[in-house]
Parts: sequence; C-alpha cells; structure tokens
Amino acid sequence: MVGVRLSCTINGEAREVDGLWEGESLLYVLRERLGLPGSKNACEQGECGSCSVYLDGVLVCSCLVLAGQAEGRELVTVEGLAEEEQLHPIQEAFLEAGAVQCGFCTPGLIVATHDLLARNPDPSDAEIREALAGNLCRCTGYEKILDAVKLAAQR
Ligand code: FES
Ligand code: FES
Repeated sequence: MVGVRLSCTINGEAREVDGLWEGESLLYVLRERLGLPGSKNACEQGECGSCSVYLDGVLVCSCLVLAGQAEGRELVTVEGLAEEEQLHPIQEAFLEAGAVQCGFCTPGLIVATHDLLARNPDPSDAEIREALAGNLCRCTGYEKILDAVKLAAQR
C-alpha cells in the first residue's frame, strides 16, 4: 500500500510528511512523525482536550482529526504560541497561579485559553468554565486553572 502524503503549514512553517497510513490521526503525526510532542495524547477519543490545536484558526482535538484532513491547511500547536525561548504570557500565568501539577493537561488548556482570550479578553468565571469544559484535569480541581486564566486575561 502506498502511504499518504501530507503537506501543510505548522506554526508558520511548510511541512511535508510521507508514508502515512490512511487512518492516522493528526495528533499521531504531530507527535510521532513531526517531532512536536507538546500536544498530549491522553484519551484519543475527543474527551480530554489535551491534544488541542488550531486548524485554520479553529480549535480542534487533533486526536479526532485524520491527518489527511489537514492537507493544505494551517495548523498552530502549543509549540507555536511561545516565541523562541520565551514562554507565552498564558504559560507564565499558569505557572504563577500554580495551575500546573503533573502538566499533562496543560498544553491543551493553554491553547484553549489562548482561543478564549482571543475571542473574549475579559471573560467571566462562567465563560471561562464553559470555554474550558472540554479540557479535563485530574490534578488541580480547576480552581487554580480559573485563577491562571484570570491572571492571563489581566495581562
Ligand atoms: S487525546 Fe484528544 S481529546 Fe483526549
Ligand atoms: S495538572 Fe495533571 S491533569 Fe491537569
């Protein structure tokens, strides 16, 4: 069987990868073929949000997207939010607020928070909870995550 080729833009850079099998998820390709392990693989069922990325500016769970669906499209992963060696202000806010424990959920939450604040720079608690409802965290009890998002919004 001839593998599928994927050409797309990731974090502003043209990327190509050959030899994919048809059912391969975008998350798998990012992590295992393109060296971008920031998006995490926790459930592979679209339930935890740890694999969140932007696909043409829309937040998606990359475990639910077939790699072939990203053909010709523009992706931004959590790696693309930070500049060079500098943490993104949202990442800093998560660290400062103590919202990172095991850290497994953090990349997805950072991307989802980025999306929320781009649409709504001053969200209420209810709006934050609603926007992040698809991102599961087993460690923090969510209060510190709420604090982190509010801190990021203030900045
Ligand atoms: S790994 Fe994609 S939603 Fe959980
Ligand atoms: S910090 Fe561990 S799952 Fe969220």
